[in-house]
Amino acid sequence: MTTSRTLFLNTLKKANTLRPPVWMMRQAGRYHAHYQNIRKKYSFEQICKTPDVAADVAMGPMDDFDFDVAILFSDILFPLEVLGMPLSFNPGPKLEGLIKTTDDLKRLTDSPAIGKLNFQNEALHKTRARLGVHKGLIGFVGSPLTLYVFAVEGTHKQGVESALQGFTDGRFDGFMDKVSDLLVANMGLQAEANPDAIAMFDSSAGDISFDLFKTKYFPHLKRVLQNFKARYRHMPIIYYGKNIGAKQWELLKTLPIDCLGIDHHQSMPTTMKEYAGDFALQGNLDPDILTLDPQAAAEKIEAYLSDIKKLDADLRRGWVLGLGHGITPTAKEENVKTFVKLSREIFGGG
Ligand code: CP3
Repeated sequence: MTTSRTLFLNTLKKANTLRPPVWMMRQAGRYHAHYQNIRKKYSFEQICKTPDVAADVAMGPMDDFDFDVAILFSDILFPLEVLGMPLSFNPGPKLEGLIKTTDDLKRLTDSPAIGKLNFQNEALHKTRARLGVHKGLIGFVGSPLTLYVFAVEGTHKQGVESALQGFTDGRFDGFMDKVSDLLVANMGLQAEANPDAIAMFDSSAGDISFDLFKTKYFPHLKRVLQNFKARYRHMPIIYYGKNIGAKQWELLKTLPIDCLGIDHHQSMPTTMKEYAGDFALQGNLDPDILTLDPQAAAEKIEAYLSDIKKLDADLRRGWVLGLGHGITPTAKEENVKTFVKLSREIFGGG
């Protein structure tokens, strides 16, 4: 029997010839009434750190929109808290103890207590219990670079000048030494709950030059992914890099990445033609389309899906349908429904 879960797992192995499985980054979030209602009772941190409630939130979009895959409800920034940086959300993240000089690195612990992230393992278990065995489930972490940018800048919104300086003044290398093993352990802690894949979100991947990406960052990314895979050989990895393209993907080909998430600035048909042999591919509808009025959104979604439908079925064997970044708070629920529904109508399959 083909279930959402087998569809997802087969797609990650590039063995699926049916419709693409579908999920969205931030599918449980502020655009959704279900989430807003739970947020009236709990803060974001309380939701993340109370596994039953985190599972409730993760199930909201599964129940309302019938996605094929659920995603752990959590945040990429919790490892920074474990390293010793006070963290709060309002609703965007606020970090204290930013890494402005190499001296600031001394305040970060050398022996992070991985048990402090156990709530993620428990939330995955609770989510699986609610989900049943026929749907997919994803755990996730942030990339070492994206965590570095947050640790230095406190945000990733207003340029990254200080983070770029850190590549020459020792902060980047010093931070990588602190965060790399913690990330491997964080992925391992999630893998112990047996999700179907672990995603790594690299939202800052395109904020550094290709030269820095290749010479300074890539060795650390490689070490984290390889160390994780050495221990969890069979756990698929999805890597999403925002604002990067062919140059970086060529390097990423040499890493143990099963599925490459691409952003909405890229053309999915072109990427499929070039990379379908190298990775399963995930993405990449522009999230802003989901904020349009329902008629306009449906037309754009249909045009996007039809373009991909025209390709040889072999090229989309390993295609996981989703967005080119996270869904935004102003997205309309009706458009999310249309997205899931049209994908099944156009590509067939229940
Ligand atoms: O459903 C899912 O996909 C799981 C939810 C999820 C959250 N954060 C919940 C969240 C995921 C996958 C993340 C990852 C994350 N967090 C990333 C990587 C992906 C990306 O967006 O580029 C980043 C950079 C963060 C850091 C972070 N946390 C930011 C920038 C913000 C503010 C976001 C906003 O929409 O204002 C957060 C807070 C956050 N994380 C919220 C949610 C639902 C909003 C908190 C609230 O409701 O108060």
